[in-house]
Amino acid sequence: MEQKVPGPEMIGRLCETAVAMRQMSYVPYSHFRVGAALLTADGEIFTGCNIENAAYTPTVCAERTAIFKAVSEGHRSFAAIAISGGPEDGELQYCAPCGVCRQVMAEFCGRDFPVYLAKSGTDYEVHTLEELLPNGFSADNLK
Ligand code: THU
Repeated sequence: MEQKVPGPEMIGRLCETAVAMRQMSYVPYSHFRVGAALLTADGEIFTGCNIENAAYTPTVCAERTAIFKAVSEGHRSFAAIAISGGPEDGELQYCAPCGVCRQVMAEFCGRDFPVYLAKSGTDYEVHTLEELLPNGFSADNLK
């Protein structure tokens, strides 16, 4: 699918939203706060944060929180995601998504899907999903 790239104003807003969403993260174990903001193809923003658990494995990343919120409300077509992460008491990083979140993105997003790694609304890196998950396994394999 051909990707419609959002304009600079929307990218800035998406990145700022991801940074702000770090405040909502529940991270008593890692103290590493991640926020995410997912833009749907029709211009809605769904937010997410990481939510940890004492049993560790039930922990969910910020990106999957945002994606699952959106999909559970009927959205399956996405234009971009912004992610912001860093230690609770440290500096923000260009925090790249974990492998599981890359795989979940690949379920719904095309190769050109832009992933913004944000420190602020103006300071970010962008990578396509293809760069982050080359040669991935997808529904095409099951055909
Ligand atoms: N985490 C995310 O939320 N997204 C990522 O892309 C990387 C890792 C979370 C999971 C866990 O709560 C904490 O960061 C440390 O791994």
